[in-house]
Amino acid sequence: MEKKRTLVTCALPYANGPVHIGHLAGVYVPADIYVRYLRLRGEDVLFICGSDEHGVPITIKAREQGCTPQDIVDKYHGIIKDSFGRLGINFDIYSRTTSKVHEKNASDFFRKLYDDGAFITRESEQYYDPEAKTFLADRYIAGTCPRCGNPGAYGDQCEKCGSTLSPEELIDPHSRLSGATPVKKKTTHWYLPLDKYEKWLSEWILDGHKEWKTNVYGQCKSWIDGGLQPRAVSRDLDWGVPVPVEGAEGKVLYVWFDAPIGYISNTQELLPQSWEKWWKDADTSLIHFIGKDNIVFHCIVFPSMLKAHGGYILPQNVPANEFLNLEGDKISTSRGWAVWAHEYLADFPGKEDVMRYVLTANAPETKDNDFSWKDFQQRNNSELVAIFGNFVNRAVVLTHKYFGGVVPACGPLQEIDREALAALPELRASMEANLSAFRFREALKDAMGIARVGNKYISDTEPWKVAKTDLERAGTILNISLQICASLALAFEPFTPFAAERLREMLKVGVDAGTDHRSGEAETVNTFREGEAAALHTGAAPSEGLVLRWDLLGRADILPAGHAIGEAKLLFEKVEDEAIQKQLDRLEAIRKQLEAAKKAEEAARVTPQKAECSFEDFEKMDIRTATVLEAERVPKTDKLLKLTIDTGMDRRTIVSGIAEFYTPEQMLGKQICILANLAPRVIRGIESKGMILMARQNDGKMRFLTPQEVLSNGAQIG
Ligand code: 2FM
Ligand code: ZN
Repeated sequence: MEKKRTLVTCALPYANGPVHIGHLAGVYVPADIYVRYLRLRGEDVLFICGSDEHGVPITIKAREQGCTPQDIVDKYHGIIKDSFGRLGINFDIYSRTTSKVHEKNASDFFRKLYDDGAFITRESEQYYDPEAKTFLADRYIAGTCPRCGNPGAYGDQCEKCGSTLSPEELIDPHSRLSGATPVKKKTTHWYLPLDKYEKWLSEWILDGHKEWKTNVYGQCKSWIDGGLQPRAVSRDLDWGVPVPVEGAEGKVLYVWFDAPIGYISNTQELLPQSWEKWWKDADTSLIHFIGKDNIVFHCIVFPSMLKAHGGYILPQNVPANEFLNLEGDKISTSRGWAVWAHEYLADFPGKEDVMRYVLTANAPETKDNDFSWKDFQQRNNSELVAIFGNFVNRAVVLTHKYFGGVVPACGPLQEIDREALAALPELRASMEANLSAFRFREALKDAMGIARVGNKYISDTEPWKVAKTDLERAGTILNISLQICASLALAFEPFTPFAAERLREMLKVGVDAGTDHRSGEAETVNTFREGEAAALHTGAAPSEGLVLRWDLLGRADILPAGHAIGEAKLLFEKVEDEAIQKQLDRLEAIRKQLEAAKKAEEAARVTPQKAECSFEDFEKMDIRTATVLEAERVPKTDKLLKLTIDTGMDRRTIVSGIAEFYTPEQMLGKQICILANLAPRVIRGIESKGMILMARQNDGKMRFLTPQEVLSNGAQIG
């Protein structure tokens, strides 16, 4: 029988910065777990990724740094690829969207849709920089956020308050290139009319894929129910794949059009002869691992592109995750609030598995989740070290001590042995159900459950004591313990592959390594592990002698009696307080910097001074002290208080918009300052005579002004 074939893709990370733990937890670690699991089961898997190297943010970064976009992507492509490799995230290929293969493929894809009449064209007015003589992407326009007053908001988003914006909404918009005020200019672009695919998408996803994760299904439903609009697939920009149509000079494919095609291009680059079986054969199951911000592109836009093109399979599942926070705050590349993969690898050498483990244990699978360094330390020390590592160490060390490093024979079983062994197939079944449904956190708990069973078993049976009086019984206990170790080597291979490899070395077993997809292919370039045999997919020991396969997990006869095992090695080491403190100090320093920057920004946001006024103008205002005698809310309003005040001259009513900031009780008896001679106004049917003087802070909060010491009411201010 043909093996089951699965094509797994991971969102192509933008090559405008390194990857951080949020990326890893949301996309890359779960995808790698899934791929390793399928490979252990003997399935045929292709694992595709690469850098997303087009798009406006890359051009902006280049401009900021005074270099070319190519310099930027070269730098980050290298850093990202290296981080993935060192974390054991073993793609079959990690290429880039600036590759020749991709440029041609994306261009051909567009051209086919163009020739088939799949696009519509639309003329629209886009912002244009009259000084730099170029159209401006929304990101290239800056101004003040209409929601929070941030003076550095962009035309697509305010990074301060998180609002999605359009350039029209910005106050004082200006070009980030020249500072000039943008003007509108006509331009023509190609659009994919998603509205035409609405019915088909509804049937395919809403009727046909009810099994998708609820967060994914829910987003798709709200997009489809909301009605789909044509989407522009080209941009006026000089960085990207040129639009392959006459008269399209100065236009490139929109980055979200070319990036997903990158999955196909990278497969072609790896397997020039056999790539089609992965993309066009209905027997291939295509799975996209992505973060929640990518759902619409992978579930709605890219499938519509594939459908328009024809001949391609569609994703079987899109197990998108939510976001990971860091120490309670949103991870932000631009604010520097992140734990970067490459920095982690430098700070914690040899602890690749620990991060993989902690990120999986806290994976934001159904809702946003949090990473904290204390939790990292705790999970390492009291789970990986104290349970998994401790159990394996005891089993291996005792086997050497009492049986010369050879798996002892298993004698008659007692109830306690049967109980331990019976737990394993149950945990395996649960793991399988969880892994197939992309519930990696739960699957990890099951794997740790096996270690817990082993740890408890060896603690309860105390083979170190039994060995003194009954060596045969001690042998049975250690035989069973070693079988559990072998199950652990399988169960943890997807999650902590480096530790699983060390464990296999201790047990002197190999693992089935998966298929070398490149055999028989022409020499390819830029593959993930240049020159290496694909048999290293799982970081396996040479497949000779005893070879682990998933279907052995949970069995009591994985290691035969008489099999010689290797020396004990530590699977995990404690993480000390100092290492954690160093990370916390680093984050604290960033927090302080961010707070200082926020204060500086607020100071810069003080409302500009009004136009000059004369002394006579000022003299017209009669400002006085007064005391609040009564205060009540104006019914059916959120903002208004009705105040009765003693002005020293009279007792009068003022209606004031301060209810957002003060309760009536807080106002009672307070001495305030008023503009006494303001012409009376009727507000909500109440005559208001005068105005309370308030100061508006930079954060928008209002406070009334009160004399430093109690004065007589009616004292004139000026
Ligand atoms: O959100 C991102 O990081 C995008 N660069 C993901 C692209 S996924 C795919 F379409 F290539
Ligand atoms: Zn804002």
